[in-house]
Amino acid sequence: MLEESLRIQLADLPIPEIHFFETIGSTNDEALAWSETGAADGCLVIADTQTKGRGRLNRQWITRPGAALAFSLILRPKPEEISHLFLFSPLGGLALCQALSKGLGLAAQIKWPNDVLLNKQKVAGILVESFWSGEIPQSIILGIGVNVAPEAVPPPNEVMYPATSVEQIYGKPVDRFNLLHDLLESLFAWRVNLTSDQFFKAWEDYLAFRGEWVRVDQPGLEPITGQILGINENGNLRLLQNTGQEINVYAGDIRLRPADKNQ
Ligand code: BTN
Repeated sequence: MLEESLRIQLADLPIPEIHFFETIGSTNDEALAWSETGAADGCLVIADTQTKGRGRLNRQWITRPGAALAFSLILRPKPEEISHLFLFSPLGGLALCQALSKGLGLAAQIKWPNDVLLNKQKVAGILVESFWSGEIPQSIILGIGVNVAPEAVPPPNEVMYPATSVEQIYGKPVDRFNLLHDLLESLFAWRVNLTSDQFFKAWEDYLAFRGEWVRVDQPGLEPITGQILGINENGNLRLLQNTGQEINVYAGDIRLRPADKNQ
């Protein structure tokens, strides 16, 4: 029933095959395994419940039944995309922001590098992983988890950043497969122009805290505080420090949060 309605909603999209699970450990793990045995570009793994969902920085990402979107899209990088793999995460973020805007009129933003916010609270996270053969990336696994219903939001003591759900902000029930349809439609459309100036412009237009002061924590390094200027051509965050100097931050294992100018 659930699976059938998913397949109907996504029927017009260029997805060669969908693997749906009522319950799974992690859709990213499943997608990685499938990509190693030949899944085609655009194949989708999606689950109603995840018991071992994974987030960035080795955190867990639990997906409760009926409350969220948890899926992994398998993408086979095209030759022109290979030097731009860092763009797949913002591709997912941008597509979700546009889907939330188009379908529900919500103004979502991308918290660099991998989160999507509604009302400055985290509504979705993105985990990009890859499968390589020697020096050549064979597949990119674009894993996205969206808190759709309030039950998807972990308790405040379990999150590193304030979280919310689409329904809490929208104020009404949301059809999650319809949201997924709009997200994937936007993603496939933007992918054609992935390395274009328009893509970078759209990414910057959706960037949260632009012009505001933020603090970036990086393992083993001093925290950096600065005002967000935008994103450079390598996907690094451009920050203006209070010394007047611009610094570019690489999107590694970082944590970003709003900050005081003098923090
Ligand atoms: C984060 O914010 O830390 C990223 C969370 C990514 C979660 C998604 S849910 C679907 C896919 N499968 C996983 O195990 N993780 C990603």
